[in-house]
Amino acid sequence: MGQAQPFSLVNFDIADLITASILCLDSSGRILFANSSAESLFGLSKSQLARLNVEDLLKSSEKFREFCSANEEESSHIQTKLEWNIARSRDARLDTMITQTGMLYPSCVVELRTDLRSIKISKEERRADLVKVNKMILKNLGHEVKNPLGGIRGAAQLLKDELVEDELVEYTNVIIKEADRLRDLVDNMLISSKRAIKYEQVNIHELTERVRTLIESEYKQISIICDYDVSIPELECDVTQIVQVILNVCRNAAEALQRHNIKNPKITLKSRIARQKTLRRKKHTLAALLEIRDNGPGVPYSIQDQIFYPLVSSHPNGHGIGLTLAQEIIHAHHGLIDFESREGLTIFSIHIPISKSESVNEFSMDS
Ligand SMILES: Nc1ncnc2c1ncn2[C@@H]1O[C@H](COP(=O)(O)OP(=O)(O)O)[C@@H](O)[C@H]1O
Ligand SMILES: [Mg+2]
Repeated sequence: MGQAQPFSLVNFDIADLITASILCLDSSGRILFANSSAESLFGLSKSQLARLNVEDLLKSSEKFREFCSANEEESSHIQTKLEWNIARSRDARLDTMITQTGMLYPSCVVELRTDLRSIKISKEERRADLVKVNKMILKNLGHEVKNPLGGIRGAAQLLKDELVEDELVEYTNVIIKEADRLRDLVDNMLISSKRAIKYEQVNIHELTERVRTLIESEYKQISIICDYDVSIPELECDVTQIVQVILNVCRNAAEALQRHNIKNPKITLKSRIARQKTLRRKKHTLAALLEIRDNGPGVPYSIQDQIFYPLVSSHPNGHGIGLTLAQEIIHAHHGLIDFESREGLTIFSIHIPISKSESVNEFSMDS
């Protein structure tokens, strides 16, 4: 009994194609596996769910336990309404199908169904949609700000040429400097929209090594550790853009380590190959995974849900553009960028399909 293999928590992508939320449990109710839909329903990652017992997710576990004890060791199922604690503390009574498998692993499979279409769409997809809307508003606002700004700057320049008093000239300099700062900010906001991708075949480690050299020269006290899978095939991508992504993420890590004076500051660049990976509703035979880890303070909890939005930053000199741009580039490459973070460990993971043309089994969760 003790030697039974635990139910595999990885490479179970097929369950991610199912719109119902699925939880597989052992006989004590511990969660062995959760699919992507369960992740977005409960607002917790698979690994967070795998640390919980099903009772942690139920408003009252009485009915659930009653069912389990009545049907022990039998293969049977029941459909019922149970009250679950779903994402962002909105509680809900959901149609719940409980199946006792009669096996050791998993001993029970729970399926949850909801008609709330928005919950079926993955957290990542919703975030990307919101970012798109935000960016559109910012783009329009940016153009509105830029036009009069040119006029203000020009008028201040003309005024400066007419003035003789140093103190007054200084005032016009302030107007010019601040107008330039605003123009740069707006330009930063606008450059990220829709840039053509120039695809080339490249070894991903050439790109990470470029970034490593840059970060090492900028932040001498930080150690950079490389944990590379050298067997990753050449990646088809826009080299400049992907270097920009890796640099933005690494720079954020380095800045966080430096700002908080972390002892033994460390950034790890880890590369792996992922097989049969579903990225943004498309299945890819091979994808490169790059993880950028740091032992810094962690992303401030208050902005964890918003860091990919434009202008979200936790420090006064930040523009909050770096991660928006990173996400936009990775999405344009049909990839995925996400993160998990707590004090002492932040991991940004970037998945990019190895080849731009080979994506199979396209599907839509809404269809
Ligand atoms: N590795 C990290 N550790 C801690 N916080 C991070 C990390 N990466 C990103 N962040 C947070 O995300 C915010 C947004 O990052 P970004 O979009 O690059 O904008 P900026 O760097 O200009 O603030 C940062 O201000 C920071 O609070
Ligand atoms: Mg940044």
